[in-house]
Amino acid sequence: DKGGYKHFMAKEIAEQPSVMSAALSAYLTDTGIALPDPGIDFARVERLVMVACGTAYYACFTAKYWFEKLAGLPVEVDIASEFRYREPPVLPGTSALFVSQSGETADTLAALRYCRDKADAIYSVINVPESSIARESDLALPIHAGAEIGVASTKAFTCQLTVLLLLALKAAEARGRLDPEARDEILTALRAMPGTFNTALGRDEVIEAAAQQLAEARDILFLGRGLMYPLALEGALKLKEISYIHAEAYASGELKHGPIALVDSNVPVIVMAPKDSLFEKTVSNMQEVMARGGRVCLVTDAAGAAAAGDEVWKTVVLPDVPEVLTPLLYALPAQLLAYHTAVAKGTDVDQPRNLAKSVTVE
Ligand code: M6R
Repeated sequence: DKGGYKHFMAKEIAEQPSVMSAALSAYLTDTGIALPDPGIDFARVERLVMVACGTAYYACFTAKYWFEKLAGLPVEVDIASEFRYREPPVLPGTSALFVSQSGETADTLAALRYCRDKADAIYSVINVPESSIARESDLALPIHAGAEIGVASTKAFTCQLTVLLLLALKAAEARGRLDPEARDEILTALRAMPGTFNTALGRDEVIEAAAQQLAEARDILFLGRGLMYPLALEGALKLKEISYIHAEAYASGELKHGPIALVDSNVPVIVMAPKDSLFEKTVSNMQEVMARGGRVCLVTDAAGAAAAGDEVWKTVVLPDVPEVLTPLLYALPAQLLAYHTAVAKGTDVDQPRNLAKSVTVE
């Protein structure tokens, strides 16, 4: 049942405020972050290996920034299909964490089995509690997103991010890296995030207008720095999956190492850049794009919009949130851009060609 929406994807994008609330209330109590038994003793984890495919991999990649910065925990992230055949050493002190919406992705499950007797513990972040990946983990953490029907993952991604951020905060606490004040600021903003999501979903018209023109493009670039880099990758994946437009994401700092050669007036560039500690650097990359005739669609906050100047082609302005929470919020315009571009192109949004919801064969 599409609940009155034209597509499951639109419904699932719109459900994000409520499913994120569900994910938060499952793990956040009055006294702090609570994990189901047996919990995770983060003080003893020396390193974390995170493995997944597709969108779930980008959730892991985002979480790497969180675990490293907030908790000082070294994290390796990998794509399951590479990890399993590379047969990497998994040293004592390593915990392994697998992320999967379906919990049935063949490569992710094989990577989990590879780690079985090597890692100290196997954890998973899943949407389907009865799934194989959940059953074969020492601790499976459900994301509470509800059934996701659209092939393009949307609400599962933001719920994966929510659970992973709570884990990173828990790790930061356990490792004595987070002062209570900083923690409270993040948790307060996180509790308010479902409301902030609603504000972001209200930017739909601006995004739809940009999408009408993006639909004409043959290639689109996504740029982001820091926490916005994994999100740029996710935005490009979402767009190519459902609109069939060739989209590629780069870390902004990589622009001059190659991809800038692609930029001309035919290649729109989506820049994800809240006015955070890295904003100035991203803006200078954006100016390089505009100097070559590139049309920039900037997704930012009010301060970022004011600082970016008026040569920007389109600006999507989001509410202010603490830097650490930006991936959650900026995921929404990335999904909406893909959705509206696909609708403008008339593709099959919920069941794009050549793709299956759950990849249970290699
Ligand atoms: O069920 P999983 O989370 O393990 O699936 C992983 C990928 O197949 C999945 O995220 C895929 O990339 C989506 N179609 C992305 O929108």
